Amino acid sequence: MTPDLLDAGTKRMQESQARAQAVGGSGGRATGYAHPLQARVVDISHGRILYLEDVTVSFDGFRALNKLNLDIAPGELRCIIGPNGAGKTTLMDVITGKTRPDSGTVFFGSTIDLLRHNESEIASLGIGRKFQKPTVFEQLTVFENLELSLACHKGVWASMRFQLKPEQRDRLAQVLHTIELGAQCHAFAGSLSHGQKQWLEIGMLLMQEPKLLLLDEPVAGMTDAETERTAELLMQLKQHHSLIVVEHDMGFVRSICSKVTVLCEGALLAEGTLDEVQADERVIEVYLGR
Ligand SMILES: Nc1ncnc2c1ncn2[C@@H]1O[C@H](COP(=O)(O)OP(=O)(O)OP(=O)(O)O)[C@@H](O)[C@H]1O
Ligand SMILES: [Mg+2]
Repeated sequence: MTPDLLDAGTKRMQESQARAQAVGGSGGRATGYAHPLQARVVDISHGRILYLEDVTVSFDGFRALNKLNLDIAPGELRCIIGPNGAGKTTLMDVITGKTRPDSGTVFFGSTIDLLRHNESEIASLGIGRKFQKPTVFEQLTVFENLELSLACHKGVWASMRFQLKPEQRDRLAQVLHTIELGAQCHAFAGSLSHGQKQWLEIGMLLMQEPKLLLLDEPVAGMTDAETERTAELLMQLKQHHSLIVVEHDMGFVRSICSKVTVLCEGALLAEGTLDEVQADERVIEVYLGR
């Protein structure tokens, strides 16, 4: 969540809200955008929060994703592993609208076609993404960072004067408690440890009440204690959100995950518990045995 993205997200959200209001009941392509964006209703009645089928992404003829299928259940915490260049980040780019696939299907719940939405619309539908490097506002306090993420629809600078409603204040307090940064509430984000910055950024995503959270290598660069605390945090989040976590740290994967997906050369290589995939000859050959 870079400042640029925040700014762009603000503009796009305003545009899509204006478009939704302007469209009314007249039908047409924009109607498809308006309904889910306003209602944020994700239909999980078929037991899926995210569904990808036959997704292919090519860069100059090279297939970063190759007919990839993925099915995530509501409340699931799925880990995606695979060697460097396997397509893990590209997968997140496709889900969040940063990269358009050449072909395939990407659905959020059973009714929202994510390929019909842009990056900021997808964020406002309830898919939050955390990049590997923490991107918090270092000159603002922990409290202000959380407040800003809640107020971003008002524009970055207008939101600095944003007044929290009582229920938003409660939500902020709840998030502070979840990320265990209550004691650092008025500390500048720049003074936090690397792990604390990562938790703050997760907190900023939580303020927007995402239904699905995508985390790319969340424990890279963390101490063992921070990694352990992050595992506890994600296990706690799993109760109310669906999560997709890309990670290379197998100890961490073991501590959080019941189902692992292994990617290789853009395709699904194996799926199962970590023990199952670690015992799979193909996985040993391409990845874990290296
Ligand atoms: N914008 C792009 N243009 C060209 N090639 C790209 C682009 N993005 C990714 N690729 C290529 O697609 C392949 C998959 O990259 P991706 O970043 O998804 O891998 P990854 O599994 O996340 O790897 P890592 O574990 O190193 O983060 C790589 O070969 C990469 O070089
Ligand atoms: Mg990557």
